[in-house]
Amino acid sequence: MNKETLNHTQDASVWKHHHVLDVDDFSLAEIELVMQTTDAMKEVLSRPIKKVPTLRGKTVVTLFYEASTRTRGSFEVAAKNLSADVVNMTAQSSSISKGESLIDTLKTLEALGANIIVMRHNFSGAPYLAAKHSKANIINAGDGWHAHPTQALLDLYTIIKHKGKAEGLKVVIVGDIKHSRVAHSNIWCLSKMGVKVMLCGPPTLLPAGLDDTGEYFPQVAVETDIQRALKNADVVMELRLQKERMQSGLLPGLREFIGGYQLNRERLALAKPDAIVMHPGPVNEDIELTTDVLHGARSVVGEQVANGVAVRMAILYLLAGSKEL
Ligand code: CP
Repeated sequence: MNKETLNHTQDASVWKHHHVLDVDDFSLAEIELVMQTTDAMKEVLSRPIKKVPTLRGKTVVTLFYEASTRTRGSFEVAAKNLSADVVNMTAQSSSISKGESLIDTLKTLEALGANIIVMRHNFSGAPYLAAKHSKANIINAGDGWHAHPTQALLDLYTIIKHKGKAEGLKVVIVGDIKHSRVAHSNIWCLSKMGVKVMLCGPPTLLPAGLDDTGEYFPQVAVETDIQRALKNADVVMELRLQKERMQSGLLPGLREFIGGYQLNRERLALAKPDAIVMHPGPVNEDIELTTDVLHGARSVVGEQVANGVAVRMAILYLLAGSKEL
């Protein structure tokens, strides 16, 4: 594990990224810089006029091949708060639906003046292909089962705001880990920060190769029993059950998932008394979380969404290499 010093002020020169494709290639110093810059963006968001000229004259395109509420909305708000011109495109409403290739679409957006392209794609790896073929900065807003880097960064920010630090915490990620790009990026990000990550789900929904030998991630453990997993947890992060997977025979049924892995009040009582409850959204209410836990005092689900705006402002700011706030 990287032993760079944490919790000190980072200089902007530590930022090395032209694209944000995942957090696996972020240094600790870069993650720390994102957290610091997010604090600065929160200050901007606390002003009566939440607008700064940082990206004036720049064009940000959101290019979404899959549905989204939080990620697309928060990138749009973030870019507008930074005074960028924003163009929103979806696969359904653009020439992609007529068969245009990803590379042609990117070249077209570039010709239209796109400086930053925020991209969600159903194929894992699509943003990496985009980064090879585009001069614009590419931000991965979720690719297939692979990665969702800005979600991991906003989750980390939310955890640090509640717990004061990340190192040494026990974070339990529960549910459909196998198909979750959120889980994959969180495993990288939290492990790098010295968090003890425990993955909990039915064996069929755990990724192959991430066993409890700790070969790839020494800090990551696997536990299929939720009661054992929740013991001493500082953070419980439930994931969306991707119901579409049920048809593929990976789960016997919803009732079994709820019986084994739903976070309810009784189970939450097994975690630390001050444990927080997270979920990236969208939530299947009364499946992953009971309604009382989702809307209860320990839920920070709404804060995650709000922090998403500030984290995405920070990422846009850092990619643009701007000094203006
Ligand atoms: N968390 C997340 O990615 O939500 P959306 O699908 O609504 O963007």
